[in-house]
Amino acid sequence: QIKGFVFDLDGVIADTSVYHAKAWRQLAEKLGVTWTDELADGLKGISRMDSLDLILKTGGIENKYTEAEKEAFAAEKNTNYLNLLKDMDATAILPGIADFLKDLEEHDYQLSLASASKNSPLVLEQLGLAMYFKNKIDPTTLKHGKPDPEIFARGAEVLNLKPEECVGIEDAKAGVQSINGAGELSVGIGDKNILSEADINFADTSELTLENIKKALD
Ligand code: G6P
Ligand code: MG
Repeated sequence: QIKGFVFDLDGVIADTSVYHAKAWRQLAEKLGVTWTDELADGLKGISRMDSLDLILKTGGIENKYTEAEKEAFAAEKNTNYLNLLKDMDATAILPGIADFLKDLEEHDYQLSLASASKNSPLVLEQLGLAMYFKNKIDPTTLKHGKPDPEIFARGAEVLNLKPEECVGIEDAKAGVQSINGAGELSVGIGDKNILSEADINFADTSELTLENIKKALD
């Protein structure tokens, strides 16, 4: 029986994955790394430093920079990102998400957030959704990033639920793999070909309703 929902943030609750991608693209192109759709997909869900490593590796320049230089690049990306976030408000909430969260709360489901983003508290505040997510995982306390199951396993733990009592919701391949590894029911939002490992697929968040999830499970 499902009792809880563990949410990813960027690309599930809000449109912020577009801002992350823009901010990384600015940095990648400055470093001479060609931006492709494949790179953009690979960056979804993974931590800030894992993202930088993937960009450098894609450009074949993974050994070119010192740790200090890499820290500076990551900080520069975050500055780019925060600039893009400045004017963000509730209009950035993805279609249907506000209703879905309300519906889940009304039906007494428990909610937690499994986002790798250190900016997630700020993003939730700006969206006006912080009240739904009193149970957040601090990504700085994680040993492993997505696709490792750790973050989604913690998402169930903080609710005092068993993994099989939880649904995990993700827009990233690495995220779906983390949900599956944790033993939760995985819902993938987006391209079905990329998220083929998900238990349930929806093309976008407007399809994300309790009714559609129940239907998919029948
Ligand atoms: C999420 C996003 C990624 C982002 C990562 C780290 O997983 O999907 O695009 O790079 O968080 O975010 P942060 O805000 O800590 O740099
Ligand atoms: Mg995401």
